[in-house]
Amino acid sequence: MRKRVPLPIGWVGLLLFLIASVSFRVPGMLNVRVEPAESYTLDSTRLDVKTVAVNLNVPWDMVWGPDNWIWFTEQDGKVRRLNPETGQIIDLLQIGDYYRKRLGLASMVLHPDWKKTPQVFINYTHIQKDSVIVSKLVRYTYNGKILTHPTLLYQIPGYLGHNGSRLVISKDRKLLWATGDLKQHETILEPNATNGKVLRLNLDGTIPADNPFPGSPVWSMGFRVPQGLAYTDNGNLFIAEHGDATDDEVNRVVKGASYGWPHIAGFSDLPGEERYAAEHPSVFPVKAWTPTIAPAGMDYYNGNIPEWKNALLLTTLKDQSLRVLRLDARRETIIDEQIHFSKQFGRLRDVCVSPSGAVYISTSNRDWNPPANFPLPTDDRIIRISRAGVIPKAARVANVQKNTGPQSAALLYASYCASCHKPDGRGVPGSFPSLLTSARLKGDKKALIAFVLQGSQSASGEGMPAFSFMTDAQLAEVVSYARVNLAKEASAVSVEEIKQVRIDKK
Ligand code: HEC
Repeated sequence: MRKRVPLPIGWVGLLLFLIASVSFRVPGMLNVRVEPAESYTLDSTRLDVKTVAVNLNVPWDMVWGPDNWIWFTEQDGKVRRLNPETGQIIDLLQIGDYYRKRLGLASMVLHPDWKKTPQVFINYTHIQKDSVIVSKLVRYTYNGKILTHPTLLYQIPGYLGHNGSRLVISKDRKLLWATGDLKQHETILEPNATNGKVLRLNLDGTIPADNPFPGSPVWSMGFRVPQGLAYTDNGNLFIAEHGDATDDEVNRVVKGASYGWPHIAGFSDLPGEERYAAEHPSVFPVKAWTPTIAPAGMDYYNGNIPEWKNALLLTTLKDQSLRVLRLDARRETIIDEQIHFSKQFGRLRDVCVSPSGAVYISTSNRDWNPPANFPLPTDDRIIRISRAGVIPKAARVANVQKNTGPQSAALLYASYCASCHKPDGRGVPGSFPSLLTSARLKGDKKALIAFVLQGSQSASGEGMPAFSFMTDAQLAEVVSYARVNLAKEASAVSVEEIKQVRIDKK
């Protein structure tokens, strides 16, 4: 599914090389470096991948502006706009009173009725004279040049970490604000506290009359550290959040619902979680990841890259990848997942989509937790991914075959199973059984598939998660991998067999 292709040598290559070597200055902008596009291939689509901005300091939120520039925040209190064609950057605001500790300036959203109301909403952490940390929602007005007239709309408690956050505006002109749990577990499920929530406010900062808890800004609750919030084209709201040791999640946000944290991580698949869920109606994720990937910014995509149509695009920090989570026709569930640009750009913090279908991602290699080999001298960067053409049919087949090879199965095992059963399958005595000697893994396929789909609870009290959220193809790959490579001598499991067990279970 993904393969880097060298640029065609010859005139095009020479021309791009010459352009690449040019570095020039234009008044009022940063040093612009025009870099050649690299090629990246999907199943049938060739993409161009091009850096459009360099030397940034943790760009945190990117929004496509009404001027066709990208408006973005940087963690150290800057709001700026970027011309994605030329690389020109214009500063709009430098906040003075931000407190940068894992957060600083974070999310931003622009007023949807821009012509009439050119307002910008931003969220940042601030430390008061009494050393108390707060998280502010402030509205600014764009005067055609800079952001002016700050108005504090709402202020909530903040913390050294776990602040979230992300802002979006709904079609009915409400501000939705995803907040972190501040590591204060007692109040995450309290409708009168603002931590671990999606808050909903009018655009003037007042509380809407139709919120589920009268007089409270809380719309839904039970989140840990959400940094992704996005509406689909049909108005469904999705949130992406960091789990603790396990279970990063994407959830569909509905009015008044509880998502279970801190009592439930991911699905209800441990006895304590089941007990809690039996008494407290909770909504489970549409997708969960163990081991964790650290999901950050997320946006809905329905543009001109066919492989990514009707999907949530999710950036990840720890995993350093762009995840493409394709949705069903009703935009309610995730039907499959693609992983792109793994470890290529480092940590990725946010994504934004242009009306023409280009995708922009931003790196976060100058934040508090830089990965090995990063930051690069040009970090942080904003990178454009756009459709460049169609791959000829003959070339396509080769790509597809490569992707179904054992490598992706090994990768699935590493991502979903190795944290407990260990990369070599030996498990952890007393906690996680060895898969090398597992009779269950070698035995009846139907029973095995049913077991992996629904998970289980061992005598030791450790849990085997339910893997029903994986696609049939993924399950076939990962279960076959474990059977053939770890338990040895056993036949593989097919997609049809997985499908059949799912049907039988219904
Ligand atoms: C969070 C930890 C965890 C993860 C992740 C996990 N397992 Fe397990 N697994 C367990 C535990 C605990 C058991 C024992 C459950 C029991 O005995 O009821 C188990 C049991 C099994 C068994 C049966 C072993 C036996 O002979 O009793 C198989 C097969 C298995 N897991 C496969 C997988 C596969 C395949 C994956 C990845 C898709 C996976 N597991 C991911 C914890 C995990």
